[in-house]
This record gives sequence, structure tokens and C-alpha cells, in this order.
Amino acid sequence: MGCCCKVTTLFLLIVAGFSLYQFYPCLFKCHDKPNFDTFKVDDWFGRVMLKANQKIPKDPVDIKSFRLNVSDADLNDLHDRLKRSRFIDHLQDTHFQYGFNSDYLRVVQQYWQNSYQWRKHEQQINSYPQFTTQIEGLNIHFFHVKPKTTAKVKTIFPILLVHGWPGSFYEYLKSIPMLTEPDSNGYAYEIILPSIPGYGYSEQPHKPGFNIPAAARIFVKLMKRLGHEKFITHGGDWGSAISLAISTIYPENVRGLHLVGNFFQPSTFGDFRRMLMAYLMPKYYFGTDDWQRQWEKTFPFCQKFKSMLLETGYMHIQATKPDTVAAGLADSPIGMAAYLLEKFSAWTHANYMELSDGGLVDKFTMDELLTNVMIYWTSGNIAASQRFYLENMQNFKFMQTLTQAQVKVPSAIIEPTHDLMRAPRKFIEHLHENLLQFTDSNVGGHFLAFEEPNIVVKDIRQFSKKLLEFEQQKRKEEEQEQQQKKHDEV
Ligand SMILES: *[C@@H]1O[C@H](CO)[C@@H](O)[C@H](O)[C@H]1NC(C)=O
Repeated sequence: MGCCCKVTTLFLLIVAGFSLYQFYPCLFKCHDKPNFDTFKVDDWFGRVMLKANQKIPKDPVDIKSFRLNVSDADLNDLHDRLKRSRFIDHLQDTHFQYGFNSDYLRVVQQYWQNSYQWRKHEQQINSYPQFTTQIEGLNIHFFHVKPKTTAKVKTIFPILLVHGWPGSFYEYLKSIPMLTEPDSNGYAYEIILPSIPGYGYSEQPHKPGFNIPAAARIFVKLMKRLGHEKFITHGGDWGSAISLAISTIYPENVRGLHLVGNFFQPSTFGDFRRMLMAYLMPKYYFGTDDWQRQWEKTFPFCQKFKSMLLETGYMHIQATKPDTVAAGLADSPIGMAAYLLEKFSAWTHANYMELSDGGLVDKFTMDELLTNVMIYWTSGNIAASQRFYLENMQNFKFMQTLTQAQVKVPSAIIEPTHDLMRAPRKFIEHLHENLLQFTDSNVGGHFLAFEEPNIVVKDIRQFSKKLLEFEQQKRKEEEQEQQQKKHDEV
């Protein structure tokens, strides 16, 4: 028995124990609907604290146009700090295995200091219309881009695009012109691309408790304020979790759900029975030609578990004491670049750890990477972005409620081949009642839309086609039902 086999067995036993403990009550009332009503209650995260028993104020509903314009003083301060950067010595014969390689960090600093031009990127960001509006006391920043022309457009889909950490709205900038342009089917998209509160240029929440359901609620309010009662919601990373939450808490507002990776991995601590069957009888359980491919997403367990541990240290810090590390990051641009950009190396491809430049510029340009860092630096939102982990991870009750919820709206998932955690299609199917599309992308990592916008846009378009067919089918069934009813009455 190899070490891996023992570890796997041990792990499965732990999972079994955990599942029994966790889901024992569920054996008797598993089909209860999760209670979402508490998530729908309005809250207030504004700077001015509410007094005890004070009624939640009404937000002004006006929408202001927004232009990014970082002050010269801030840019000078940044350059000053960059010039005075202090570096660590890095270990011989290592690359990114110990974290960000400091030799390469010097290269990043040189480029940032001497070649990188923020104003150019600021201008590019400002080439798309942006707005702010107040929701639950917070100033929410968002892009709102409509198709330029209505010629050749048959169907316009309103779509909400939600980013994650350590990304930002910037991950989706390349997708904007692709999505607003009509394709051969005549589909085009009206894009609403917000910054999560506490990320990018959305105001940070000023009191504890801002979590996934709060973000979901705020974004649904935003969409309604813009006149969209029903829309497609898309996301990756936290954006995937928020989009899932929108789809389960507010299904009446969702036309379709499109995800880069299913954030709540049903494989990790999911149903033990399913895990055991998949492990012991993969051919029988998966029952498809690609059973091996599906199996490899979860097993061998020890290997998967090890890489998960290796890549999630940051998460534990941010889910417990986010402000401590944020104090350092907010003070040092080079520290912030190392902390954020390391993720763009390891999460794009695990093997990039073996490269002296972390493979960073294989898939992204240094300009793109630094612009994302600049959004964190200039907004001053680093701490708030990290606190989102604490607010979510320390609230198991709602995490459990969300993970047990069935997705009933039509959905689609594209899974990057080099993403950290992946789930077999079969596991996903248990959670999504109307999974219209599942794409195993053969390229790309965690930041798929940033890395391969073409692939994500193509997947969204394919999903939209299936969505229209699904809606048509539904209408037909309803009509038939009504006719049957009339017939029965006669
Ligand atoms: C940015 O702000 C400065 C001063 O506050 C102003 O002079 C400049 O015109 C602004 N630029 C843009 C592009 O809005």
C-alpha cells in the first residue's frame, strides 16, 4: 500500500466521519428548502453608523458618471516608494517555490519605475463608460456598456460580470468590445461590470458582515436600478460564488448563470456516498467515455489535497487576521505586487513555480499585471478586499445553506484546465438542475477571462443560444399545459 493510498483512505474516513456528523440531521429532512429569507433583508454598510433601532435610510437612486483620475501627488508618492524599495536575498537554485522570486521582483520594480505608464492605462479604462450609485450606504462603481449599434443585433442580453480576488473589473476589460459586438446569430450583450464593494473603485464596507449574500443583494439592486429585472450573471472566483448566490437566492431575477469554475466545490467536502462511488467504481459512477478525465479531477486525493494546501495559505490568513498583512501591503507597492502577482503565476499554471520569472509574462503582459496591482494600490482597498474572506469563511451557516442549495436557473460552467480545484461534471450535475453546458477548457488557468477572453466570450455566446432554445421549449410546454387544461375543462 503506497503512502498515497493510505493518505487517501485516511482522508476518505475523515470525510466519512465529517459527513455523518454534518449531515446526520439531513438524513431525515434533506429535502427542506434552504431558508434564504434572512439574506434578503436590507442592510447598511455606509460610513455613517446607524444608531441602535434607527431605521435603515433610503439610498438616493441617482446614477453619477465616473472618470478615473488618480492625482499626480499619489503617483509621485508611488514612485518615491518604488525608488526606495528594499529587497530580500533569494535562495540559490529556487524560482517561485518559496514565493515570489526577489530577483524577478527587482525586474518588476525596474519596469514599474521606468517604463510603466499609468496614464495610458487610466485612459484605456476611461474609454468605457463608468458610473457610481449608492446602495446600502456604499458608493458602487460599475461599467455600463451597451452595444454601439443596433444594426445586425437581434437579441440583446443584459449580463452582469463579477470579478474575484486578487483580480478586479480589469480582468474583463478585454471582453467588453467582444461582447458588445453582435455575432453571426445577432446576439450582443449589454454589460454591467461592477467592482465588488471593497474592491476596485467601489467604496469599502464600514462595518463587519459584508459577505457573499450581501454582495449578491447589492448587485441585484444595482441591476434593478438599471432597469434589468432579469439578466444573465457571470463570474469567476468570488464572482462565481456571488453569481451562484444571486441564482439561488434571487432565481426570479436570473435568466441564466454562467460560471468560470463552480466556486462551491461539491467534490471537496461533498456527499461521502458520491465520493466513495467515484473512487471505487469510477467507470460505473461517471458512466461516460471521459470517466478517467473526470476521476483525475479529484483523485489521487493526497496529491490534490497537497496542492490545495500549498496554494491556500493566503486564504487562511485573510479568513482570520486580514488587517495585519494588509498593513504591510498598503504601505509598500513592491510588497503588494509580490503578494498579488504570485497568484497570477501559480494559479495560471502549477508548473510556473519552476520558472525564474514565474511564467508571469507567458500569458499576461507586465502592463496588464501592474495595472491590476495599480487598481488595488490607488483605490486603497487592499484590506477591504482581504476581509471578504473573513466575512465569508467565518459564517459557516450561510456557506452550508448556499452549498446545499440547488441551482434551478439554466446554467453553464467552463472549467479551466489548470485551475486549482476542479470538480467532475457528474458532481456538478447534482447541484445544477438545468445545466445546459459544461466545458472542459483545454487551456487556461484560474483567471480564464483575463488570460483567454476569446474562450470565455465564445462559451457565453454558445450558452446564450442554448438559453434561448431552453426558454422557447419552456414556453411551448407551458402553452401545451394550458391547452390541456382548457381541453379538460371542456
Ligand atoms: C484630472 O484631474 C486634474 C486635476 O485634478 C485635472 O487637471 C485633469 O484635467 C483631470 N484629468 C482628467 C482626464 O479628467
